[in-house]
Amino acid sequence: MTAQADVRRWRVPGRVNLVGEHLDHNGGPSLPMAIDRFLSIKARGRDDHVVNVWSDGRRASFPTSVGPGDVDDWAAYAAGAVGAYVAAGHPTSGIDLVVERGPDGLPAGAGLASSAAVTTGVVAALADVGGLALDPVTVSMLAQRAENDFVGTPTGLMDQLAVTHGRAGHALLVHPMTDPPTVEHVGFDPGAAGLSLLVVDTRVDHSHAVGGYAVRREECASAAAAIGVDHLADVRLDQLVGLEDPTLAARARHVFTEIARVKAGVRALRDGDWPQLGTVLTASHASLRDDFEVSCAELDLAVEAALESGALGARMTGGGFGGSAIALVPNDRVEAATALVTARFDAARWAPPTVFTVRPSDGATLLA
Ligand code: GLA
Repeated sequence: MTAQADVRRWRVPGRVNLVGEHLDHNGGPSLPMAIDRFLSIKARGRDDHVVNVWSDGRRASFPTSVGPGDVDDWAAYAAGAVGAYVAAGHPTSGIDLVVERGPDGLPAGAGLASSAAVTTGVVAALADVGGLALDPVTVSMLAQRAENDFVGTPTGLMDQLAVTHGRAGHALLVHPMTDPPTVEHVGFDPGAAGLSLLVVDTRVDHSHAVGGYAVRREECASAAAAIGVDHLADVRLDQLVGLEDPTLAARARHVFTEIARVKAGVRALRDGDWPQLGTVLTASHASLRDDFEVSCAELDLAVEAALESGALGARMTGGGFGGSAIALVPNDRVEAATALVTARFDAARWAPPTVFTVRPSDGATLLA
């Protein structure tokens, strides 16, 4: 390693998705935002071909020629980012990486896209250290390759686009499967309307690699094939009602109606119509629970308790099967909502959830 090599420091956010769940892998739009919960990534170039990663007191080392399956467990995401970067034809020398979450940082396994934060942050750091100017969409797509091809999680591109394109005071209308993918910033400032966006991390870990996420993707592909469209987002109402298999029909119904909710959500943001946005959130949850079947008892309870405490709307966010719920709550109801959600978890004899508010934030940022 060159002793005098510069240390570069990145601040990389997680995301919550306001609405448009499980649409990215079906060719539809989503409305996520980057949140003010961050990872810190420090990077320093090396003059050999070794990659060292330190995180939470652990250390992993591998060569820049790392391949799929060579590194597993916590370091697989950083290794995947290096692998995807090199596989895209970008030569790189070694790098030292320190990934820190900090006490108020971005929790792992909470459905807040911490894996996308690691992969996009590492790709951005590799490009920066190597003096290569990569645009944020390219960084996002390489980070997705890291997850899909190296870690083996079949995610779409929504999380990575949110992490790279976030902007304070804005949500992001993303179209991950257009060529090229597009991102439009839409003003979103609940604080200015006396509202808070609450996150309830149920602490139920979710795993996309082995979990139902991959099954849902397959079901969506089967539904699209049965209808004869490339992507389920292209389904028309007459085709939807003609689907005979009840499971495939329910998955397609979620996709069809969720696209309508994204449109309604964007309109609500543009009109400053907060009650309407709340309605959209809660309707999205019902569809994810009943038609797409990716919720769980903890997420449902969090949503119900938030609504009972005066939330304008609430829903699970992210892939589901655990992770986090969000709720749009008047500021003066935040304490009551937090207390009621916590009490309900306690009564159900579940581990206490972590409840906190988030604000729309800037995307991955080079600090120094
Ligand atoms: C996970 C995936 C995303 C997206 C969501 C569901 O977060 O990483 O690509 O599919 O689930 O909307």
